[in-house]
Amino acid sequence: MSVYKIRYGTPEEVVPSRFAPAPACDILTEQPAAAADMRFSTSPRGVKITMPIDPAACIYGFGLQLKGFQHRGTKKHIRPNADPVSNSGDTHAPVPFFVTTAGFGLYVDTARYATFYCGKELRPEKGQEDGTDANRLVSAFEDIYAIREGSDRTILTIEIPIAQGVDLYYITGETILSIVSQYNLLSGGGCMPPMWGLGCFYRCDMKFNEEQVLAMAHRIRELCIPCDILGLEPGWQSHTYSCSYVWDEGRFANAASTVKEICDAGFHLNLWEHAFTHPTAPIYDALIPYSGDYLVWNGLVPDFTLPEARKIFADHQRTLVEMGVSGFKLDECDGSDFTGGWTFPNCALFPSGMDGEQYHSLFGTLYAQTISEALGNRRTLSEVRNLGSLAASYPFVLYSDLYGHKDFITGVVNAGFSGLLWSPEVRHAENAEDLIRRVQSVVFSPQALVNAFYLSEMPWEMHGCTDEIRELFRVRMSLIPYLFTMFYDYHTQGKPPVRALVCDYEKEAEARECKDEYLFGDAMVVAPLTAPEKERDVWLPQGEWFDFFTGKRYEGGKHHIVTDGIPVFVKGGTLLPVAAPVEYVKPDTCFAITLRAYGDCKNAVCRLVEDSDETTDATYRVIELTEQAHETSSARYRVIGVEEMK
Ligand code: GAL
Repeated sequence: MSVYKIRYGTPEEVVPSRFAPAPACDILTEQPAAAADMRFSTSPRGVKITMPIDPAACIYGFGLQLKGFQHRGTKKHIRPNADPVSNSGDTHAPVPFFVTTAGFGLYVDTARYATFYCGKELRPEKGQEDGTDANRLVSAFEDIYAIREGSDRTILTIEIPIAQGVDLYYITGETILSIVSQYNLLSGGGCMPPMWGLGCFYRCDMKFNEEQVLAMAHRIRELCIPCDILGLEPGWQSHTYSCSYVWDEGRFANAASTVKEICDAGFHLNLWEHAFTHPTAPIYDALIPYSGDYLVWNGLVPDFTLPEARKIFADHQRTLVEMGVSGFKLDECDGSDFTGGWTFPNCALFPSGMDGEQYHSLFGTLYAQTISEALGNRRTLSEVRNLGSLAASYPFVLYSDLYGHKDFITGVVNAGFSGLLWSPEVRHAENAEDLIRRVQSVVFSPQALVNAFYLSEMPWEMHGCTDEIRELFRVRMSLIPYLFTMFYDYHTQGKPPVRALVCDYEKEAEARECKDEYLFGDAMVVAPLTAPEKERDVWLPQGEWFDFFTGKRYEGGKHHIVTDGIPVFVKGGTLLPVAAPVEYVKPDTCFAITLRAYGDCKNAVCRLVEDSDETTDATYRVIELTEQAHETSSARYRVIGVEEMK
């Protein structure tokens, strides 16, 4: 298990690693054996890299892919796009990193829109032809364009435009999980949210004024809907789009007391914004020398590669943090100009010398970094619409304006390959059934987000299913201690909390193609159902599995048709900590834990993690419990008993 750095030529100055946190792993500069098989060249097109790849190897990653899963044989263009509608590589969060079942992963340290051809055949030398296709006749339409399996001349080709050199990080490991974990450590380790960040999150209608926001906050409490975070959309500001970053005096005449009342009701407040800065923003004049040569929505585009721009921006946002704001939603930084023409062009120039193409690749990540500077040492779990390379340490979850439930599940499955978190947020629904299915997916995802930015009522009140939805959010709250341990492992070991089954079970052929189920932590498999489907096929890895809710036993290494409930399974031999759900997490909440024993738990150990406070300087204590010994002496957890689930 190692990370090797391979340098070719002279890399560009503006590359993601220059702005990333210090790696939390060793980087070897000696060359790995595979480097001998790589071919590098430069031309006016940029850098070209080729390397052999086992024709049977599967390839995953490239960031938040919503349309594809296993990429062997396909072409992926690593380009940020707010409207990723096809399997081309375009996404809100493209990352030039892939991982294979051939024992390695590769991160290409570039801010260019690189293209990856994931398996092409080189022309054989004369006399080397193998004649594989000699008598082939294509008779079915779908065969004409099918991806053909490669031969031992299959190579992976990477093109990086403009650059005349590049650093590659070649990561070896026995499993996909170990390779991805090292990529996350190369990024500085995964983020560590506060416990409240893992609770439920409700974003209000963007037209709401302070009375309406407060009425919504009180209604949420009155209905006992678990909720930790309340989000305000554009309407809190005096000007959007672009942004003024000051409260609108008409709608929020008493902003300070409104913020206080929201916090007193146990919510953390999150504010929507984007980085395009309107002339009425107090920081507009100061930002002019540190902004690009194009406007977006009449706003400046601050050059966040410059510490001066970051400081001006962060200092202003800190005034909001000091009022009591705990997080931000960083919108529009994926900057699609494929629809509508908004955002700056690739040829835009920035005072640091960077161009628009490079900034599109870095924008969201640097914006997240700027806001982290504004938050100081306060931990958060916030939102962002673009991230890129080496971004695992930023506590920001990705989201989209797209709304296909199945695509959203593909996002949950894929994001974990590239140091990203994704929320299949809930907005409107066709009917109660659709809403319930969507909320089920959200509850078992990195962030439990309802984004009602165009809904004046809570969607479950509209569809008359408040009781069912409350129960689902209570399930989420019951899993907060488990989720917190998952994130601790992300932070310290780089292990993605939510990930594809192939990460842990790549030896099992089914896992390699399993694109609509995922691991939720080490011990749970989630196989969401989307309305109007009434049943689905679930594949479970070898071993013994149990229904999370009922304890019904399922044999692994097999397919099962599941017809009711929420298909969530727990691995046999798991001692799962399940808390009595609270409505929201306070700094002094003590979780009453039941240890649910799924299968034979004689040797099982349940780990709980306790932090000293909610800052980035916190220290952590890992508590290990067994069926027999489960005294905690912890202010955070109290075990009330063990429940046999077999
Ligand atoms: C979109 C964003 C939505 C919502 C909306 C408000 O760009 O994706 O979630 O915030 O802006 O204008």
